Amino acid sequence: MKTRIENLLSEVEAFTADSAQKVEEFRIKMLGKKGDLTLLFEEFKQVSGEMKRELGQKINELKNRAQGKINELRETLENSSATTLSLDSSRPGTADSMGTRHPVAVVRNEILDIFSRLGFTVAEGPEVEDDWHVFGALNFPPEHPARDMQDTFFVEKKEGEENPILLRTHTSSIQVRAMQKQQPPIRIVCPGRVYRNEAVSARAHCMFHQVEGLYVDQNVSFADLKQTLLYFAKELFGQNVEIRLRPSFFPFTEPSAEMDVSCSICGGKGCNICKGTGWLEVGGCGMVDPNVLESCNIDSKKYSGFAFGFGVERIVMLKYQVRDLRLYFENDVRFLKQFAAAI
Ligand code: PHE
Repeated sequence: MKTRIENLLSEVEAFTADSAQKVEEFRIKMLGKKGDLTLLFEEFKQVSGEMKRELGQKINELKNRAQGKINELRETLENSSATTLSLDSSRPGTADSMGTRHPVAVVRNEILDIFSRLGFTVAEGPEVEDDWHVFGALNFPPEHPARDMQDTFFVEKKEGEENPILLRTHTSSIQVRAMQKQQPPIRIVCPGRVYRNEAVSARAHCMFHQVEGLYVDQNVSFADLKQTLLYFAKELFGQNVEIRLRPSFFPFTEPSAEMDVSCSICGGKGCNICKGTGWLEVGGCGMVDPNVLESCNIDSKKYSGFAFGFGVERIVMLKYQVRDLRLYFENDVRFLKQFAAAI
């Protein structure tokens, strides 16, 4: 029996295998139900006395060695198959897809760039604002409809609350903050997201992006405003573009105007984008109302100013003819990829 154990031991030591199947066959032969070791243990029951200790140790050693060998071979085989897979140099590569800028960001940056060439610096402010910065300081009377729950999202509105917290409905609130902080000359552009309580559809959304601008100094006139807007429109839409200012009303500007640019798609002849008029509306503008300057502690006898505001999605729509506003907020990669060249 002793010699048989020793023979089996050298068999275990000498064994190698190049496949998992061979290892398994070896395991069955050695440790299986009818394997060599099972037989040895059967026989071992008959052994008595002195021999029992010596043989018992030997059989256990054989069992451990066999199990160790099997584990060792299994591990080497697994590792080597993993290496072969990761080194398959014939496999076609998977290309990393490049991200693209969102069209709203592309156009916003373009607008900011144009105004920075005119000496405007960028100012930003909080999206969660108070009533005073969004409406009060901007000459909105207390009963103005924009202050209604139907038009504005209130974060908190208690009965009789004088200055409730709300989501800003325009970035003019940034201009108020700038005027409070600093005396003229002030020349800023204010980009940012704004919120209005609208039902979401292709033509209206509860949030969008604006770039508004403010220039306050001595002797700022409507002619300065018009020239600034003309320069802006030509830089953005092309040198052949013309602008038109239509009288309008905003509580914070007097006089106020709506700004149109000649339709760059049909060249002003009339098409379905400009609805046959030859003109496209891009934003509002006007001379800052003296009341607004005064509420921000700026002397309205000494200083005057102009302000303007554009909706970024509206300009993206005119430049790229994307007519459903919802697409801007869905982040569908198939939509965004189309602007890869616009960066
Ligand atoms: N704040 C206005 C709006 O959100 C836009 C505007 C800005 C109009 C400045 C005139 C002057 O609609």
